[in-house]
Formats: sequence, C-alpha cells, structure tokens
Amino acid sequence: MTYSFDGMTYLVKTFGCQMNKHDTERVESMLDSRKMQRVEREELADVIVFLTCCVREAADTRLMGQVASLKNVPAPHGKRIIAVGGCIGQRDGEKLIDTLGHVDIVFGTHNVDELPALLEETLQAHQACVSLRDHSETANYEIPFHREHSFHAWLPIMKGCNNFCTYCIVPYVRGREISRPFEEIIREAEILVSDGVKEITLLGQNVNSYGRDLYGAPRFADILRRVGETGIQRLRFATSHPKDLSDETIAAFAETPACMPQLHLPVQSGSDRILKAMNRNYTVSHYLSLVEKMRYALPDISFSTDLIVGFPGENEEDFKATLELVRTVGYGQTFTFIYSKRAGTPAADLLDSTSASVIQERFNRLVEVVQESAYTQNLKELNQVVDVLIEGTSKRDATMLTGKTPKNQTVHMPLPEDVSIDDMVGHIIPVKIEETRTWYLRGHGIEMA
Ligand code: SAH
Ligand code: SF4
Ligand code: F3S
Repeated sequence: MTYSFDGMTYLVKTFGCQMNKHDTERVESMLDSRKMQRVEREELADVIVFLTCCVREAADTRLMGQVASLKNVPAPHGKRIIAVGGCIGQRDGEKLIDTLGHVDIVFGTHNVDELPALLEETLQAHQACVSLRDHSETANYEIPFHREHSFHAWLPIMKGCNNFCTYCIVPYVRGREISRPFEEIIREAEILVSDGVKEITLLGQNVNSYGRDLYGAPRFADILRRVGETGIQRLRFATSHPKDLSDETIAAFAETPACMPQLHLPVQSGSDRILKAMNRNYTVSHYLSLVEKMRYALPDISFSTDLIVGFPGENEEDFKATLELVRTVGYGQTFTFIYSKRAGTPAADLLDSTSASVIQERFNRLVEVVQESAYTQNLKELNQVVDVLIEGTSKRDATMLTGKTPKNQTVHMPLPEDVSIDDMVGHIIPVKIEETRTWYLRGHGIEMA
C-alpha cells in the first residue's frame, strides 16, 4: 500500500559517507512520490529526517547538537516529526527516544524503505515508532528517481562489511556483507545510462570482495567489465580494500576505458605494526606492490587514501613511516583523521599513553606532507587539456563553472559568454589548465572540434 502525505513538507539532513548520500536519494524519491514537498530550510519542514553517522565521535556530537537545537525552530504547522535513521539510528535504536527527547521515528540502516510506513504510523497513532529489523536478504534496492545530480548516480553493489578493522564501527551498524545480484546491478546501470547519467560510482564498504557470498562468482572484475560495456562515460567505485585488490580487478580496471584513472585505496597507516593492530591484513610492502602494479597498468593513475593518526600505541617511528609512505606514493588526495575511540570495537579496549597534544602535532605535520603531495600531483596538469565533467557553478562565484577531471580534481573556469549554465551541467568538455593549487585547478573551456 502506498500512503500519501499530500502537501506535507520535508527536509533530509545527511551526515557521513556515500552510503548515506545514496540513502538520501532513496528517502527523497520515496517522499516525493508520496506527494510530499522538499524544502531547503528547517523552519519550513513538517518532517525532518536525519541520516546519521557514528564513524567518529564528532559526528555523534553533531547529531545531538542539531536535534537539540531544533527545539528552538518552530514548525510550519504546529507539530513537527523528527526521524533519526542511518548508523546512529541502527546503533542506539529506541534509546534515542529518551536521550534526544523529541524524536518520533528511529529507523536502522536496513529499514530505509520502511520510512513512509513509519511516518503513517506516527501520524495515526501519535506515538514514537522504531524499526531496526535486519531483512538484508530481501534487501530492497529500488532505484531512486530523484538524484542529487542528474548526471551522476550511486549504484550500490553490496551492503555491509566483514572486515572488522579494530577501530571501526561500520560492521556493527551496517551488518555483514551481502552482494547484490549481478544481473540486477547491470540492469540498473543500463537504466541509468539510458536516463542520461554520465558517471556511475559503484558503492560498497569493500567492493573488491563482491561475490564472495555468491559462491565466489561473478566477481568485482566482471562488474567493472560489464558496467563498462553499458556506454557509461565515467565509472568510479568506493571503497577498495587493499587486501582484496586482485590482479584480475587491476586488469579489468586497466582494460575498461570508462574506469577513471583514479583509485581510492585507503591505507590507514604506513607502519606494519599498526596495520596489524588495526587488523588490516596487509603490509606496507604489499600495498606498495599494488600501487606499482596499478601504475604499470595505467601509468598516469592518481591515488587517494584515508589515514588515521593516533591509533592506540602509535609511536613517533610508526608515524614517520606513515609520512614516508605518503611521500613514496604521492597521493593526489588524502582524507586524514585523528583516531576516535568507538565503544564496542576491539581497539576501544587498548590503552594509550600518547597525549592529545602529541597526536594533534603529528596530525598537523601529516597535513603539511599531504598538501605538498596534492600540490605536486596537481602541478602535473599545468598546461594540459583535460576533460572536465561540469557539475554546476562555483559556490562563491556564479560566473565560474566547476567540474571534475578524470582524476577527480576540482576545476574552476569562467562560464563562457552567451551560454546558460543549464546547457553546461552534465557535459564533459575539454579544458586547458592554466593554474594549479593544492585543492583545485583553474582553466578555460576550449572549443570542441
Ligand atoms: N570501508 C571503507 C571506509 C570506512 S569509513 C574503508 O575500509 O576504507 C572511512 C574512513 O574513516 C576509514 O577509511 C578510516 O580512515 C576512517 N575511520 C574509521 N573508523 C575510524 C575511527 N574510529 N577513528 C578515526 N577514523 C576512522
Ligand atoms: Fe571499517 Fe575496515 Fe570495514 Fe572499512 S573495511 S568499513 S574501515 S571495518
Ligand atoms: Fe558513517 Fe555509517 Fe558511513 S558510520 S561512514 S555513515 S557507514
């Protein structure tokens, strides 16, 4: 049964990773199809849905602060419904009704599709509703018809994570790995391409282990090859675990022209001792051998990574090994995090005597090295002509276009005269790069032949 909430307004507030971004598109599509109206500001919203993240403590605290501050924002029609979903919803469940006070709905990471029913129930029964049931086996992957960008789509190929890195909460809040049926993924890619999508990002916590629960076949390499044949122009994926990046996947990556020459390969640390304590199941030399193989297959490939500073027991020597690794690989982009203790994970029980100020000082040193590395990589594009997928105008200046290179670098360029922005968004145009910085490039669009 499809409920209708004709005329009610809603706003989704999203935290965390691409999983939540994709869930946001699903929630927005479901509520739009029930005739609800999307609004941009809290004071205009009858319903506010939070898609939450608890990967680090800062994300937790932010949610609590945001929900609390809503108490002072009047609802447009008297009563406002607040729904908390995502990873904090899954982790804390019913408790949130007490701790956050005025929350009406709590739903878990497996229950996004139940939101309209929960909304109906709350409206009818005037009482709080909670749904955390894990029904992953019958997971509903309905395709969102509303996307943040018309030219880009997230395409989930699996759910959950089996890796249990000792610092990480994700396996506890997203459940075990379940691969989505191969044919369903290909069908969705075909639909997206026929809908005008230019770029697909395949999603999973560890895409490289796709198919392991499907008797080992088909595998991730098969997905790359088959999705690459759909006519999609740009194909990306996140996230790739180094322990499972096979030669077969490297070959498929190199032989699929749609695969962009950019790989996010989170390393976390440059010290074998710390990698072992993190339960990452690879060594620095294995990681470097993957980088070498990828570069051999695709010489101009750019790497990005995630790094954690301050894992319990990390000493100066371990930290220097991380700096060394960043310099050796030469990352184009790096996401740096200070270790955040997550209750319930194995690392939460480890003792550490390193002071917060030492960790902060190391973090600052790492950021300097990471920035140097990004700058050096961007410099390679100077005076080159690169294909840029136009995403929109710059947030600061509406006369400047912004877009992404194949290596996922941000490019700013002037909007040509007599051209409307709508004619540019979603198009891939050649751009001559005239200036390079740490975080972005600048250039001019050149006439297409
Ligand atoms: N599945 C992906 C991403 C997981 S979360 C992967 O394995 O790479 C994204 C990043 O958050 C991780 O790569 C890690 O660098 C960081 N992270 C996860 N837990 C953390 C914690 N407790 N403290 C600090 N950073 C953390
Ligand atoms: Fe977390 Fe590790 Fe799984 Fe990534 S692979 S989600 S870091 S447990
Ligand atoms: Fe955060 Fe959950 Fe993603 S904890 S990083 S939103 S899987």
